[in-house]
Amino acid sequence: MEQTIQPARGRLAVLMPGLGAVATTLIAGVVSVRRQLAEPVGSLTQMGRMPGTDGRPVRIAEAVPLAGLDQLVFGGWDIYPDNVYESARKAAVLEDAPLRAIRGELEQIRPMPAVFDPAFVPNLHGSHVKSGKNKAALARALMDDIAGFIAANGCERAVMVWCASTEVYTQASLVHQDIDAFEQGLEDDDPAIAPSMVYAYAAIRSGVPFLNGAPNLACDVPALVQLAERCRVPIGGKDFKTGQTLMKTILAPGLQARALGIRGWYSTNILGNRDGYVLDNPENFRTKEVSKLGVLDDILRPDLNPDLYGDMHHQVRINYYPPHGDNKESWDNIDIFGWLGYRMQIKINFLCRDSILAAPVALDLALLGDLASRAGMAGVQEWLSFYFKSPQVAGGARPEHDVFRQLARLHEVLRTIADRPPAAEDAAAGPVRVHAATT
Ligand SMILES: NC(=O)c1ccc[n+]([C@@H]2O[C@H](COP(=O)([O-])OP(=O)(O)OC[C@H]3O[C@@H](n4cnc5c(N)ncnc54)[C@H](O)[C@@H]3O)[C@@H](O)[C@H]2O)c1
Repeated sequence: MEQTIQPARGRLAVLMPGLGAVATTLIAGVVSVRRQLAEPVGSLTQMGRMPGTDGRPVRIAEAVPLAGLDQLVFGGWDIYPDNVYESARKAAVLEDAPLRAIRGELEQIRPMPAVFDPAFVPNLHGSHVKSGKNKAALARALMDDIAGFIAANGCERAVMVWCASTEVYTQASLVHQDIDAFEQGLEDDDPAIAPSMVYAYAAIRSGVPFLNGAPNLACDVPALVQLAERCRVPIGGKDFKTGQTLMKTILAPGLQARALGIRGWYSTNILGNRDGYVLDNPENFRTKEVSKLGVLDDILRPDLNPDLYGDMHHQVRINYYPPHGDNKESWDNIDIFGWLGYRMQIKINFLCRDSILAAPVALDLALLGDLASRAGMAGVQEWLSFYFKSPQVAGGARPEHDVFRQLARLHEVLRTIADRPPAAEDAAAGPVRVHAATT
């Protein structure tokens, strides 16, 4: 049977655990664009093009049936009760005047109480949290939130993008290996199940695509991958690719393409937002470090090119420095070598705005996650690697980090979706599929 695509009818709920800097910058940005006060720069779904059937560039939004910005309804959870206006003021990413212009709309978006465990984010102490007899009860409470939000806002579908703090470093253990073990772990309140996994579980069980903007595992464990496949839900992660890592994945493929050697790549960052404060804890930083370190080896392949990259030192540092706020500053010192081994250096000093780079990525992931769902795609969506620092892949495959190859893959999949005929009207997208929890 020919594969079809459901139309993007009705409202789409964009639900975000964590209404901090990235989420509020995304929401304020979409509201501003809707009111024609600003342009959605950095978003491929809004401004990007892809090769059309005849090879000529066409706007992505015209090639595939995406939900429009007017159809989006934002909601989320946070451990602090601040509404989106208050939270955006505290995050201090956007200037006061443009925020005041949309204040009324932002004040109406209030976070639902979060599922939170301070063991996973020791630097934060919020009181706007749920209580429940175990993690299974908390997952059910999240599923009720999702269903309640959809009903209250007249939405047809929902998508969830994790924009909450980076959790401490953990690795998958026995409880994460299959669905039964995981669901038993929820009942037993297993300490190895992180809050991000409870959200991911609730989303997948509710038929809601889950995209993970942070480096912690969340849906990147076998049990949740199996569940996503079984429930026919798209998932993806990890860690929005912005700032320094974006630069790295642009530059490294170029050096490798010219067969230039690299002896060392030292990267350091200072940032002073709440994310920086969370990452000031060594166990939370470890999660980020692992996410950032994988990039170069996968692009440069020292195993295939030992003469050029076999002896490369790659180090990444992040320091919390409050005066910089969200305006992260990164330095890269790259020790390269060329013809006959002669040494050279490249220095990069990127004065970026972390959430200004992350917000369009979060928007694209929400819209493309919804598109994938309407196209009947399920499980890990590797074609969304373009947006992630540490792409989640299925079945032990090698992640692709080269931003140009990632873009080519994104275009390729969008092309196949663009070629699908729309589903028959009577089969058009109904309300979100809700799968009964077995817990
Ligand atoms: N800003 C960027 O460019 C960027 C890039 C890549 C990844 N990220 C990741 O995205 C995430 C968000 O970044 P940010 O700059 O918005 O951080 P932030 O600290 O401003 O916002 C995170 C919010 O999550 C809330 N939170 C923590 N645990 C929660 C839970 N269990 N449930 C609900 N809410 C919870 C916090 O209270 C906070 O308001 C972080 O994990 C960060 O590492 C950000």
